[in-house]
Amino acid sequence: MANSKYEYVKSFEVEDEIMFPNLIVVRVGGRHFQRFSEAHEFEKPNDEKALKLMSLCATSVLQEYPDIVFSFGFSDEYSFVFKQTTKFYQRRASKVVSIIVSFFTSVPIVCASLEVLQEYLAWRQQHCHITNQHNTCLWELVKSGKTEKEALDILKGTQKQERNELLFQQFGINYRTLPQMFRQGSCVLKTEVEGIVKYSENGTPIKRMRKDPTTVHSKNIAGRSFWNEHQSLLKDLGVFTKDVGKINSDYIRSFLFESKLMASTWIVIRIDGCHFHRFSEVHDFEKPNDEQALNLMNSCAVAVLQEFPDVVFSYGVSDEYSFVLKKDSQFCQRKASNIVSIVVSFFTSVYVMNWKAFFPQKELKYCPAFDGRAVCYPSTEILRDYLAWRQVDCHINNQYNTCFWMLVKSGKSKSEAQRALKGTQAQEKKEMLAWFGIDDYNALPAMFRQGSSVFQVHIICSSTEIPSTAFLNIAIQKKTVHDMNISRMIGKHIVAEKYWLIMPVACIARFSLALKSN
Ligand code: GTP
Ligand code: MG
Repeated sequence: MANSKYEYVKSFEVEDEIMFPNLIVVRVGGRHFQRFSEAHEFEKPNDEKALKLMSLCATSVLQEYPDIVFSFGFSDEYSFVFKQTTKFYQRRASKVVSIIVSFFTSVPIVCASLEVLQEYLAWRQQHCHITNQHNTCLWELVKSGKTEKEALDILKGTQKQERNELLFQQFGINYRTLPQMFRQGSCVLKTEVEGIVKYSENGTPIKRMRKDPTTVHSKNIAGRSFWNEHQSLLKDLGVFTKDVGKINSDYIRSFLFESKLMASTWIVIRIDGCHFHRFSEVHDFEKPNDEQALNLMNSCAVAVLQEFPDVVFSYGVSDEYSFVLKKDSQFCQRKASNIVSIVVSFFTSVYVMNWKAFFPQKELKYCPAFDGRAVCYPSTEILRDYLAWRQVDCHINNQYNTCFWMLVKSGKSKSEAQRALKGTQAQEKKEMLAWFGIDDYNALPAMFRQGSSVFQVHIICSSTEIPSTAFLNIAIQKKTVHDMNISRMIGKHIVAEKYWLIMPVACIARFSLALKSN
């Protein structure tokens, strides 16, 4: 397809490949999980069902991505270890992280050697033990009538042994008899099992060895005895030759892959559906554009703008959305992987939650995933060119896809349609569409031709001009009306209101309006 003059903006995208022979660990952790666990009334200090749900998610991740060979989790976190030789998404940190975290937030850890991985695992398991012991004491004290603050004061500065004694003497709890999952966390790893793959004609089952994720518990996951007894870990990661001595958490933290995005630049988080070609086939999306699928994407973008105030503008087309964060944003201290993974995981969970509202008749057949990347643009002009690049892409793809599916619907095979379109210019495509009865390409829905944009406008108007909800609904539906009214209202004063607008972007110049109003 043709290149546009805006393609130069691609050069701002930095490569973040994690070099061989580093081992890759992706740690996911819930964001504001205390709020989440309270809102969903989790049992304190451990909710068995919630932990099992986490473990189930980890199992699905291991099933989905064969390159992940081991995982360890407790509370709201899980660490996923990739096999040493992985080439998963060319080892690009942002891709690897964002894909794995469709439901979580994460930090990638690049372990320089197997010894670092071993110490990392020991560190996480030690953390699991310490927090669990502390929280068990805390909630027993609260249950016995202390306030949370009193309980915290009692526990301040206590040692492991003292906490064990407190549990035993005051509450009759032998810490060692509490469920392993609470004390030691859970591991998901792959073990070889024999399974029936099919039946022969005479009904004899045909069996093959396959690798299934299995959940196990162990007191010392970084110990030689646990590690070296699992063949798959030895094969994909290597042998632990020594046991871990004293854990130096500062040393392990130094392996966190935390690149900070340049200060005073626009940050764009671009997310893109993974294998949406297949996803749209499986869910029988209309071709070339499914209005409901696009509206669902737009609803997720609205949720992102509502959740993250630093996102000031967004533009979406097909299975992708670009979110622009304001220049002086300090969100997650501008740490790229944190921002990307939070936005991508939030977007994905809203997509799943909103699915039924947009497709009441369609079952969501499997979990969608999105990948994401962060790119910095130093000036508003370059940012505008970035958006123009995405919009030109939308136009080129839509024109091509409209012709392609017209040809296919008229009886051509997909490869014949591809051949017919190869090398054609915009004018020839216009003629082709006219031949199929589409005289005016511009009469096609604007959302298909131009993509969608979500941003917040602060409408300032006099008290007599406060727009009613009904007016705004009409305004949103009739895009031109609303556009005229926004410009008329801006500049007036007295009452300032905020409105969420979703609209096709007729021209990127409107973007300036969005920025001015923020
Ligand atoms: P990766 O992003 O590399 O994982 O591949 P992908 O399969 O997601 O393809 P890509 O992101 O390049 O393109 C998005 C794909 O999603 C399109 O090629 C379509 O197949 C599909 N898609 C997106 N929106 C629609 C839609 O409204 N209708 C239909 N039928 N398909 C859509
Ligand atoms: Mg995609």
